[in-house]
Amino acid sequence: MAQNRTLIAYETKLGATEEAAKKIAGVLCSKHHLEVDLVNLKKDAAPDLALYRNVVVGAGVRGGRIYGRALKLLKNDLNAKRVAFFVCCSWAGTPGSYDNAKAQFIEKTLTKFPQLSVVDAEAFGGRIRYFGKTMLDNTDLSKVEAWAEELGKKFTQ
Ligand SMILES: Cc1cc2nc3c(=O)[nH]c(=O)nc-3n(C[C@H](O)[C@H](O)[C@H](O)COP(=O)(O)O)c2cc1C
Repeated sequence: MAQNRTLIAYETKLGATEEAAKKIAGVLCSKHHLEVDLVNLKKDAAPDLALYRNVVVGAGVRGGRIYGRALKLLKNDLNAKRVAFFVCCSWAGTPGSYDNAKAQFIEKTLTKFPQLSVVDAEAFGGRIRYFGKTMLDNTDLSKVEAWAEELGKKFTQ
């Protein structure tokens, strides 16, 4: 295992989670000098988890359900790793719904994986597009960036 190598594995349908994953990767590389691999769980080969000390898993949400490939990744043996988890969804970026998003999609999910050492987890806004038209966009990459800066400190402690 390379020292402190970091995997960011994400699943996206409308791109918000991918943008967040790329932002996190940029911060971890440029500000914390971590070696980071970005893996799109739908398009790329399955990552070799044995290579990583830190694993960040990100996913979007539809119909109250977190995308399945990302959840499946959390079922792997990540016990010796530092894990971070994030979702992108419209509730998280809507004032008044953030707490519900955090409870439903972050806290409830993580109770299913009590063996994980989760160093941080967060819910960010998302976007909805139909037939190429943006109906809602409450993404906030500055919030993602601030979270990634704190995460980088935890991964380099
Ligand atoms: C059919 C559909 C269902 C959705 N259901 C939810 C939902 O239950 N809760 C929520 O907060 N956001 C919901 N969203 C918003 C998505 O979470 C948002 O599109 C987010 O950006 C998805 O991540 P992605 O862009 O990485 O695919 C839904 C969007 C679509 C298109």
